[in-house]
Amino acid sequence: MDIFDKVIDRKGTHSLKFDFPEKHGQKKDALALWVADMDFSAPDCVVNALEKEVKRGIFGYGEPLDSYYEAVEGWFLKYYGWKTKREWLVKTPGIVFALAMAVRAFTKEGEGVLIQPPVYYPFSNVIRNNNRKIVESPLVYKNGKYSIDFSDFEEKASRSDVTLFILCSPHNPVGRVWTKEELQKLGEICKRHSVKIVADEIHCDFAFENHPHTNFCLAVPEMAENVCICTAPSKTFNLAGLQTSNIFIPGEEMRKSFLAEIDSAGYTQPNLLGITACQEAYLNGREWFEKCKKYLISNLDFMRSYLEKNIPQLKLVEPEGMYFAWVDCSGLKLSSDELDDLISNKAGLWLDSGKIFGESGEQFQRFVLACPRSTLEKALSQLEKAIKEM
Ligand SMILES: Cc1ncc(COP(=O)(O)O)c(C=O)c1O
Repeated sequence: MDIFDKVIDRKGTHSLKFDFPEKHGQKKDALALWVADMDFSAPDCVVNALEKEVKRGIFGYGEPLDSYYEAVEGWFLKYYGWKTKREWLVKTPGIVFALAMAVRAFTKEGEGVLIQPPVYYPFSNVIRNNNRKIVESPLVYKNGKYSIDFSDFEEKASRSDVTLFILCSPHNPVGRVWTKEELQKLGEICKRHSVKIVADEIHCDFAFENHPHTNFCLAVPEMAENVCICTAPSKTFNLAGLQTSNIFIPGEEMRKSFLAEIDSAGYTQPNLLGITACQEAYLNGREWFEKCKKYLISNLDFMRSYLEKNIPQLKLVEPEGMYFAWVDCSGLKLSSDELDDLISNKAGLWLDSGKIFGESGEQFQRFVLACPRSTLEKALSQLEKAIKEM
């Protein structure tokens, strides 16, 4: 049996994904394939390092040693050829927190921040909640594939009140891994119109072999002074609850204003266990991750053939990386509310409804495939049954 086949009961473990279904409008026994965390145990090396720390029993304030920085820097150099400098790195308790700080640091109230829906919904939340304007340049969905409308993007970027672009690279939920050329075009447009960029690269490790991820600073080195790159070990090693992320800001001016925002939010020390886990994962977790990625790809393959064979009305949007299946359900010819009702109430599945990612996501559902195959199989058979009974 593959280690990833093991079903671990996460109910009653303070799990956002599994506990509180009713609070989220789901059935009590809903099968959870929502929210991007994995139902797999983190690598043994990480668990052992944390165990050692826990056994020591002292949970005082933490501050990373040189070895932490070496592990983080080593990961990006080895797997992306990106040579970072220690002074660029700012630690935050998660990327969504960093996005909010970036919006506050790099824009003024009332200014516009550009995003590309359908996109990870906290992007709009942090813009709206900080009294900035959401400016959308929607991705174009054609023949089952998403692309960027560069002339629309330039039109939006050229507006005098647009000062920041939040890029999701790779893109959640549509699964695009942007090519170097696409990133260069975006970078050139932003440079022309003095728009700063926050590149959320949290999913970079999941890019598939034939769709390599390009770090934004490497794709557009001339923009490096105006870019903030958000990274974290949280998706790669299933450590989201330890709230540790590494934000790289090469430009001194941008970094200073970001640090000032963090200071004014009262954040100082990173989570002690998060430091331990991040260092260990980046140093010794690669082999586990390679196996995990293979398993995720086999789940995707399983889902693709299951849909083709049993539920041909649903179309998988082929991802180029990541552990989501973004599924086009327009073939069911339901309204978006009817679709949500089918998923939640008839199929008993707890997914991410596509509409939370933006209006253009209304006919879609997002499945998180980071679960044992048996869970995925159960979910798909519940869905098939509900659709057949429609
Ligand atoms: C694109 C993207 N950014 C950020 C996050 C969350 O980051 P964090 O938990 O570090 O706030 C996610 C989680 O799914 C994500 O998909």
